[in-house]
Amino acid sequence: MSPHSSLEWHPASWQQCPAAQQPNYPDAERLQDALQQLQTLPPLVTSWEVNGLKQQIARAQAGEGFVLQGGDCAESFADCRPEIIANRLKVLLQMSLVLVHGMRQRVVRIGRFAGQYAKPRSADLETRDGVSLPSYRGDLVNAPEFTAATRMPDPQRLLEGHARSAMTINFVRGLIDGGFADLHHPEYWDLDWVQHSPLAVEYQQMVDTLGDSVRFMETLAGQPIGDFSRVDFYTSHEALLLWYEQAHTRQVPRAPGWYNLSTHFPWIGMRTAEIGGAHVEYCRGIRNPIGVKVGAGMSVDWVSDLCRILNPDNEPGRMTLIHRMGAGKIADALPPLIEAVRNAGHRVLWMCDPMHGNTVSTPNGFKTRPFDEIQSEVEQSFAIHKACGSRLGGVHLELTGEDVTECTGGARNLSHADLERAYRSTVDPRLNYEQALELAMKMARVAG
Ligand code: PEP
Ligand code: CO
Repeated sequence: MSPHSSLEWHPASWQQCPAAQQPNYPDAERLQDALQQLQTLPPLVTSWEVNGLKQQIARAQAGEGFVLQGGDCAESFADCRPEIIANRLKVLLQMSLVLVHGMRQRVVRIGRFAGQYAKPRSADLETRDGVSLPSYRGDLVNAPEFTAATRMPDPQRLLEGHARSAMTINFVRGLIDGGFADLHHPEYWDLDWVQHSPLAVEYQQMVDTLGDSVRFMETLAGQPIGDFSRVDFYTSHEALLLWYEQAHTRQVPRAPGWYNLSTHFPWIGMRTAEIGGAHVEYCRGIRNPIGVKVGAGMSVDWVSDLCRILNPDNEPGRMTLIHRMGAGKIADALPPLIEAVRNAGHRVLWMCDPMHGNTVSTPNGFKTRPFDEIQSEVEQSFAIHKACGSRLGGVHLELTGEDVTECTGGARNLSHADLERAYRSTVDPRLNYEQALELAMKMARVAG
């Protein structure tokens, strides 16, 4: 018996459970006003798209497909700009192309964007020079500047977050429908930097080969193949701020149950995955496919209970476990989990997040992640799953399409000293475009 079985699920039943990582809004009335407005606004995604992604994940669980999930650690309202959105979309499309080419698999693309605005923090308060203020919890809650006014949780930001998410998803849909991902136009697949990158030649050859293959297939078929001109693209964010998620929880005509229509693929973060907690309670009742982050410290019983509570009917496509253990821990921590989940008969997609277990602080005060460790955790993941008779079905990455210097290493071998040049993340360090593409190339090699 889990604590959840005594509760009748409804979109607000999480309020009866302990809710970690929630802001303290000083004015309950303003919060309720904002939520009421949010509830009446159009959703960001539709139930049939959500069901479509669940089917794609089910196929990947069955061994026919690989999921690429990536984007910022924390989106910011200020970065809701066309060039930033387009570059991030491009790098994800390019990576997916590299993976399709190398793995000979369908790739399901999920952006970590259009709503990735709320962050879990290790402490409620941050203290600087003797002054303590609420921690920055993402743009959906407050602002990063360290003043009493900007750190105060503001419910108006819930509406602003919804609006920026809508602008982002609208632009992404427009780009994709307009042919941004059309393989007949490999020139769309370039970023300006490609010519100057140490990876340029290999990448260009891949794009040319794929373009040739498309033309060859179409010659054989005697007609253009429509599927090559468009791709599916899905969105995801951490289902953290439960007031926001509840306001987006809707029923739709002709489909049973409740859907979270703020995103296709919400996930539960590692800090909010307790059994009996509000996040597990909320997520168990929605029909979306869901992810749960799994760390090296989580017991086999805990992970098994999560699968049982979140997916009691063992529905295909419903459940993704995203392990984020660290390159030094995964070899010991992952095999027992794979075995326990398999022995219990839980149907899951296994994904690797090689970012969050490999964060280190530099002597000059930056949070960074060494590229080698990230690569090592992904490569070990492929090998461990194979050795355990399982399969790695996807990766979850923090990345950007910009030329930032946040993670060290990679083809240009960024050093600690380089981090100062373009460190822009407000929370965790992301792979820059080149490092992201390089990682895709390395993955395609080991998994191909
Ligand atoms: C994240 O994905 O940004 C995050 C906070 O991850 P985790 O819950 O795995 O620590
Ligand atoms: Co992060």
